[in-house]
Amino acid sequence: MDYTKKIFWGDNSRLSDFHKSKFEEFMSKGQEHFEQSCRDEDGRLQHIVSAEHFDLSFLKTIRDTANSARRISKIEPNYLKGLLRHVSILNYFQQPSTRTFLSFSRAQSKLGIQREEVRDISTSSSEKGESDLDALRTQSSFYEGMTIRHKADYFSHFAVWSMLNSQRPLHIFNAGSGVKEHPTQAILDHYTKEESLGSLEGITVAYYGDCKRGRTVHSGSRLLALHKDITIMYVAPERLQIDAETEQYLERRRVKVIKKTDGIGETHKIADVNYVTRLQDEYGSGKEKYPANFIFTEKHLDSMPDHAILMHPMPKREEIEPQMDYIDNPKIMWWRQQRNGMWTRLATIAYVYGVDEEIRNKYQSIETKMKKIIKSSK
Ligand code: NCD
Repeated sequence: MDYTKKIFWGDNSRLSDFHKSKFEEFMSKGQEHFEQSCRDEDGRLQHIVSAEHFDLSFLKTIRDTANSARRISKIEPNYLKGLLRHVSILNYFQQPSTRTFLSFSRAQSKLGIQREEVRDISTSSSEKGESDLDALRTQSSFYEGMTIRHKADYFSHFAVWSMLNSQRPLHIFNAGSGVKEHPTQAILDHYTKEESLGSLEGITVAYYGDCKRGRTVHSGSRLLALHKDITIMYVAPERLQIDAETEQYLERRRVKVIKKTDGIGETHKIADVNYVTRLQDEYGSGKEKYPANFIFTEKHLDSMPDHAILMHPMPKREEIEPQMDYIDNPKIMWWRQQRNGMWTRLATIAYVYGVDEEIRNKYQSIETKMKKIIKSSK
């Protein structure tokens, strides 16, 4: 496994080989060791780097916190703003982003966090040959957290390692790393599925489109594997089929994997969740054309089971028929996913900075008070 790919190690090969070998040495200790490095002595996650680090109890905590915060914001909006005023976060996005960037930013703002951004690295010292390692260390001097999006598959792992080296008690949030991971998207998608379907036990999820390079597919599949009796159908031509690493991960966890390469067919009539993705052609050699027999149409939507849902992480392109934007169908989830993204990211940040319990307790006390008022007015 090449953990060092697409990370900028500097222009000098002697220096970069030295640093690379240090990172490789750290990663060679294995995934379990890495996961331990992301937790504190009590086992609480300090960095949100990989969907493989989440379990059902963590996801429930995030869901409960998100729902509490959502309700509190309608009743006492200023309460949340007072929680993390002492925290500052840098949103460091080296790849394009609309939803993830804005929802992280709004979530931080709702918690009173001071936030700044670096999105255009042509304005940074990397133009002068500064390595990503030095850039991260520099940035870490000024903040208590960093949200990072980067084209390298292991950039967030690299960021955690570099923070360990510099002894900075800073939290890393992976906002998308290469084709490998998008853990906060996986959380919001998991939340959306649970809010819509209730229990996820025994469900069938169909992923359409770019299963090979879609990081939302990779992280999302890993969270599904936490549930019992899951079937995942990857509906994509051979060249876009699910990668061997994800497939093996799922097989080890007894997820039933079905690969369908000849078009949508009847898949949408069976699946509880249909999850469509665009071609990730920024990782290829130019604009690619989406295969016509995998385009999700209004007809497919209409013949989905009553309870089933249609999701998309966005941005969407030709893989979804355009008339979908002009019909009001509660099965279409992508706009709701975006809103859910803000609340689940807020909950995840609150968890990492240790104020999630406070949020849930606050909602409990508001609810108790309201019940008393209603009772006394009867
Ligand atoms: C996704 C991503 O960046 O991986 N976008 C997002 O964060 N919602 C999906 C995509 O770009 O296709």
